[in-house]
Amino acid sequence: MAEVRWNKKDLLGLEYLSKEEIELILETADSFKEVTTREIKKVPALRGKTVVNLFYEPSTRTRVSFELAAKRLSADVINIATETSSVRKGETLIDTGRNIEALKADIIVVRHNCSGAPVMLAKHVSISVVNAGDGWHEHPTQALLDMFTLKERLGRIAGINVTIVGDIAHSRVARSNIWGLTKLGANVTVCAPPMLIPAGIEQMNVQVTTDIEEALGNADAVNVLRMQFERDVQSAFPQQIEYFKKYGITEERLKRAKKDLIIMHPGPINRGIEIASEVADCSQSVILDQVTNGIAVRMAVLFLVSQARDENQI
Ligand code: CP
Repeated sequence: MAEVRWNKKDLLGLEYLSKEEIELILETADSFKEVTTREIKKVPALRGKTVVNLFYEPSTRTRVSFELAAKRLSADVINIATETSSVRKGETLIDTGRNIEALKADIIVVRHNCSGAPVMLAKHVSISVVNAGDGWHEHPTQALLDMFTLKERLGRIAGINVTIVGDIAHSRVARSNIWGLTKLGANVTVCAPPMLIPAGIEQMNVQVTTDIEEALGNADAVNVLRMQFERDVQSAFPQQIEYFKKYGITEERLKRAKKDLIIMHPGPINRGIEIASEVADCSQSVILDQVTNGIAVRMAVLFLVSQARDENQI
């Protein structure tokens, strides 16, 4: 176990964590992964605690795996669907958070369409806030489970070559992966059509290319991002079929990449747009392993933030 103590009540983004703190989460997740394979998949680590999932955007993987993670730790879990909550009557995020705190919950897991919403919420409540994806900003637990999966497959993160291809401009997954992977010593390349590469991205210590063949040439892993049509990407890149031809991850393209290239995708996948169906389901794909690993990683995050809050009496 890394020689570092976790002392943060919140997990808001990988930008705000040190290399050692990221490694501690991954090592803690490693020990929780064993729990998820037992016949009785439960430990009492969060018994008596309450976790509230507060999702302002749709989610399948993140919401379900946070709920499972909390239940595996013996916490009580409440899911708030904002569509049927008092958010519909105009209640603000801060007021909702303060009311959840008044109800004596211990952790709020929040997904929000606005970048920075979890950071703001964490300043207004004393209970823990975990970012489950905010706008274009960060999706820290997705990047953590991506790194966990890479480490599981390759044995290390330092020195590996990871290509992130797709809608970099609108992607919180890309941003969190870049923060995490570069802090742990991976070489990161981002690849997209020019209109989907955000200005200044090279300042995040990544290689940038618009050439998919170049981006895949030396990669040990490729993380394929979804076109985020709900975020107005249509106007930036109108022809889905054109995107697939120029940037889609196809069997043909894999022939020119390393033969054991690892195929990743945060989901949900759009088959035939950013990834060919056969590639999504091929033996090199770890897409469903990523989903499975999300439970152990989120158990680690819930455990660490809860422990820090208890120890610091925040
Ligand atoms: N990867 C991810 O965040 O998926 P969901 O939107 O289904 O949670």
